[in-house]
Amino acid sequence: MIKVRVCQWGFKEWWILFTALVSSHKKAPERLKDRLARYFHREIVLFNSGRAAIALCLQFVRQTKKGKTEVIIPRYICTSVIETIEKCGFQAIHAPVNDELNLDITALPAFISDRTAAIIAPHMYSCSADIEAIASLSREKNIFLIDDAAQVFGVKHAGSLLGTFGNAGVLSFAQAKSIVTGIKGSGGALLISDPELKRFVDDNVASYERNRVSFSRIVEFLCVYKWRGIFETAHYYLDRIKTLLQVNKPTDDYEPRKIAYLDAAIALRQVDTFNQRYSQTLQRLAIYQRELSQLPFLSLPQIANETRYVSRFIVRLASESPKAFRQYLKEHGVASKLTYLNGSKLYDGTADSGLLELPLQDISTADVQKVCNVCQQYSKHLTDQEVVENNNVTR
Ligand SMILES: Cc1ncc(COP(=O)(O)O)c(C=O)c1O
Repeated sequence: MIKVRVCQWGFKEWWILFTALVSSHKKAPERLKDRLARYFHREIVLFNSGRAAIALCLQFVRQTKKGKTEVIIPRYICTSVIETIEKCGFQAIHAPVNDELNLDITALPAFISDRTAAIIAPHMYSCSADIEAIASLSREKNIFLIDDAAQVFGVKHAGSLLGTFGNAGVLSFAQAKSIVTGIKGSGGALLISDPELKRFVDDNVASYERNRVSFSRIVEFLCVYKWRGIFETAHYYLDRIKTLLQVNKPTDDYEPRKIAYLDAAIALRQVDTFNQRYSQTLQRLAIYQRELSQLPFLSLPQIANETRYVSRFIVRLASESPKAFRQYLKEHGVASKLTYLNGSKLYDGTADSGLLELPLQDISTADVQKVCNVCQQYSKHLTDQEVVENNNVTR
């Protein structure tokens, strides 16, 4: 089975994990902070998650924009962002997305009101949103802008790195991103552009505890990422049994903390090797684009016009059911993933429907070609079916 993997680690990442038995990696957070500060030319604060960075920004916004209650986000987004907004006492306002699944700048002004405190603009699966235009609109309307680069690293828009627009930027190092250290609160960063926010953050984060990487998180990461198959199934059922027996301890994985030493050490390595993964990903995407762009039953919303880096590969089906396609892929040895919220429902004319995720990270170009072959077979299967149906009608 060709799997949808959630990260690409080399030998060194596994070595860092292994040596955590004897080394604390205590210097890693400071090194990572310096590395990111030099890269982004921003003040950097490291956390255990991207949502911890967003939450701190929203706490600042509560203080500085009194009486404003709404935060605008794209309608298609990771649910953790919605949960964080609500936890911070704001109402999430869901604005439409464009074909690339990012905030639609033409629709955005209609969603801004006297109640708007902030806009969170992610770059879905690493595709850049129209962040320069969003930043200029936010400045004009005096709205706090979070350039949410949780899913992307090392991509520029209008000459500047994503994450550096607006008042603050956010990175995440959890699974299926560009930089991956683990799962469930395995790291994130706040990129500060606003000096007032910097003072607020300094006053608040000093009291944060340092996160620790638990043994169970490592086991879960290995089952979900590395071994998968029977281990993933066993892990799933073990978890269900624990829930039924009520021996599942409530976890506080996302309680805001400073990044764990081990996560910082792995993140540093992932940052240093990003360029290599970037070019390997581009090679895989070039194959997908060459082989799939002519197929009539699907479109490639992220790479329709150019081959560019994405961290996850999404296709859109205009008339077929993504779930039926998923089943066909599975029967032919290709795993796929349903997308956020209800994105894998039947296409209904909106950009956030008809979607399915195909394997991209950590697979060989031969496997990319195999996935393409199965997609081409499915296309032929649909055409043959159509011919049979037409013949039945004319008979
Ligand atoms: C766009 C976006 N923002 C923020 C987050 C939150 O990141 P974390 O899981 O590190 O809290 C995510 C997580 O997937 C995300 O996709």
